Amino acid sequence: MQTILVTGGAGFIGSNFIYYMLGTHDDVRIVNLDALTYAGNLENLRGVELDPRYTFVRGDVRDKAAVDAVFDAYGVDTVVHFAAESHVDRSITNPEIFLSTNILGTGVLLESAKRHWNLRPDDKYCREYRAGVRYLQVSTDEVYGALGKTGMFTEATPLSPNSPYSASKTSADLLVRAYGETYGLPVNITRCSNNYGPYQFPEKLIPLMIRNCLLGKPLPVYGDGMQVRDWLHVRDHCAAIDTVLRKGRVGDVYNVGGNNEKANIEIVRLVLAATGRDESLIRHVQDRPGHDRRYAIDNTKITTELGWAPAYTFERGMSETVQWYLDNTAWVERVVSGEYQNYYDTMYGNV
Ligand SMILES: NC(=O)c1ccc[n+]([C@@H]2O[C@H](COP(=O)([O-])OP(=O)(O)OC[C@H]3O[C@@H](n4cnc5c(N)ncnc54)[C@H](O)[C@@H]3O)[C@@H](O)[C@H]2O)c1
Repeated sequence: MQTILVTGGAGFIGSNFIYYMLGTHDDVRIVNLDALTYAGNLENLRGVELDPRYTFVRGDVRDKAAVDAVFDAYGVDTVVHFAAESHVDRSITNPEIFLSTNILGTGVLLESAKRHWNLRPDDKYCREYRAGVRYLQVSTDEVYGALGKTGMFTEATPLSPNSPYSASKTSADLLVRAYGETYGLPVNITRCSNNYGPYQFPEKLIPLMIRNCLLGKPLPVYGDGMQVRDWLHVRDHCAAIDTVLRKGRVGDVYNVGGNNEKANIEIVRLVLAATGRDESLIRHVQDRPGHDRRYAIDNTKITTELGWAPAYTFERGMSETVQWYLDNTAWVERVVSGEYQNYYDTMYGNV
C-alpha cells in the first residue's frame, strides 16, 4: 500500500485531493500533516475522518522533528506538498511568513525525504533511493510572472515571479530542482493555474463573490477587472497530480491548466447571474500593486505525454461550484466567523 504524506491537507486543494485519492484508489493511505493556520479547516475532512486509511497529524512543515517523526511513524513513500501561505494579498502586507513557510518548510520536507529514502543517507554521493518513492511539489503558474495579450506559459518559460507569494513559491521550486540535481531525489513539480471548487477559503475571488451576492453586499473588483486567469476545477487539478505521481518522468515539471481564460470581471458577472443579482453591486477598487495582467497555461506536455485532460467544462464546474456554496452556507459562515477553528479541539482535544 502506498503511504502518501499530504501536507496542508486541511486547506482548499489539499482536502479535495484527499477525497479524490481515497475515493479513486483502494490501496493508498494518507497522512495529512497540517499546522491548521487560519486557512486550515478540519471540517473540510469530516467525510474521511472515520476512514482507517486516513490519519491527521497536527504539525508545522518547518518543524524538522515533527516532519521526521511522521516519516518514521508511518513509513511515508510519497510526499505531495501543498502546505503554503497562499494568498497574494496577504503576501504583500506580510511577506515574512511566506518566506518562512513556503521556502524553509519545503527545505525541511526535502531533507527529511532524502534522509529517509536514500539507501545510504550518510554518503553524500549516494543517489540511490528506496524503490517507488516520489516527492511532488505543488506549485503555481504564478512563478512564470505575467503575460501580455498573447502567448502561453510552457515548462520552458523563464521563472519571473512578481509578488512575494510567487517569489516564495519560485524559491521553493528551485530548491526542489536542486535536490533532484544534486542528490538524485525523485522529484516532480506541477505548476497549476487558478483553481475553483468546493472548500475554498472565502477570501478568494469566487467564494467571496458568491457570499457577497447572497448577502447583497458590494463586490470589490480590483482595477478594471480585466486581469485574465486560466481557471481549472480543483478535482481536475487533483487528477493531474495523481497522474504525475503515477506516470510523471522523474525530475520533470508539468504545467496544469484547463484552457479556460477568463477576466476577473467575467467571473464576477457569471456569479451575479447565477445568484440572481445585478451589476449595481460591482465596486471597482484600487488595483493590487504588481497585479499580474494575464496568465495562460500551455498544457500540451501533460496532455500528450501523460494522457491527462480536464474532465470538467467551465460551465459545469462553475454551476456545480455556485450550487455547492449555496448548499453549504453554514460552512461558509463558520469560516467567516472563525468558529471552524474550534473544530480541532472538539474532535481531538488539546493534543
Ligand atoms: N488555490 C489555487 O488556485 C492554487 C493554484 C496553483 C497552486 N496552488 C498551490 O497549491 C497549494 C495549496 O493551495 P490552497 O489554495 O489549497 O491553499 P490554502 O491556503 O487553502 O491551504 C493551505 C494549507 O496549508 C496549511 N499550512 C500553512 N502553513 C503551514 C505550515 N507551516 N505547516 C503545515 N501546514 C501549513 C494551512 O493550515 C492550510 O490547511 C499551495 O502550495 C498553493 O501555492 C494553489
